[in-house]
Amino acid sequence: MQATLSDRAFEKISGLMYDSIGLSFAISKKPLISSRLAPRIQRLGLASFEAYAAMIEADEGGEFQMAVDLLTTNETYFFREPAHYAVLEETLAREKPRSARVWSAASSFGDEAYSTAMLLADMAQQGRIGNDWSVLGTDISDRVLQSASRGIFPEERLRDTAPERVKRYCLRGEGESEGLVQMSPKLRERVRFGQLNLCEPIEDLGPFDVIFLRNVLIYFDPPTKAAVVDSVLTQLRPGGLFFIGTAEGRVPCKTPITTLAPGAFRKQTAAS
Ligand SMILES: C[S@@+](CC[C@H](N)C(=O)[O-])C[C@H]1O[C@@H](n2cnc3c(N)ncnc32)[C@H](O)[C@@H]1O
Repeated sequence: MQATLSDRAFEKISGLMYDSIGLSFAISKKPLISSRLAPRIQRLGLASFEAYAAMIEADEGGEFQMAVDLLTTNETYFFREPAHYAVLEETLAREKPRSARVWSAASSFGDEAYSTAMLLADMAQQGRIGNDWSVLGTDISDRVLQSASRGIFPEERLRDTAPERVKRYCLRGEGESEGLVQMSPKLRERVRFGQLNLCEPIEDLGPFDVIFLRNVLIYFDPPTKAAVVDSVLTQLRPGGLFFIGTAEGRVPCKTPITTLAPGAFRKQTAAS
């Protein structure tokens, strides 16, 4: 028989998620939590959501991370929201920087980080930016980060990538690996991944020239959203570019930024 999610267990689980990583679930999300966690509870042979809540609280066998993965979506793909990559390319082409440091915060499987790496590698090759560039991808989920570091993707996730880029930067799998591509070593050596919880104080990582914080703010309530955006923006140099998902609405931050396009901003300089 399937376990039922009581209000108490819902509060316990949503409280744990909010306190540790800022995920905010209104009571209307009770059916969602129930449907996402019930198969896991059954698989573990647990009798109730209360027992599962105790397990994630104790982080038994890394179950906290598993619950996070079940409750969030890691949906991502290469060159998602292409207008942002156009803003990035136009800005870099105009400014011709000798170096560029990019942070993909909430990178999921790394599609955003490697898309940016392809763009920067092309621009450096064409002499439009200097050759000193790198990309850092971070996420809360260890599972997606391990996959990101391997740099292996189902070809389908590169559906919006120009075919000549796929040819230049991807190695096609054969036999058992058919349908998969691996990022080439020349891209992988420029892209690093590490675990980072956006809801905890961010140590000095930057300054970055560009930060992507896309499609993660949706999980946070307004005060957490504002705190995360301001905290992330401390790592962006004045004049640097900042991107959030176009569906994520207004940026609720105190840091002065100028809108360039939907979801695309520039951090103001002292002179602006
Ligand atoms: C939908 S994906 C976004 C991927 C990519 N940025 C994009 O737009 O395609 C959201 C990611 O946010 C991560 N995430 C959720 N809460 C987080 C937190 N508190 N700190 C860091 N990452 C978090 C999830 O693990 C997930 O991989």
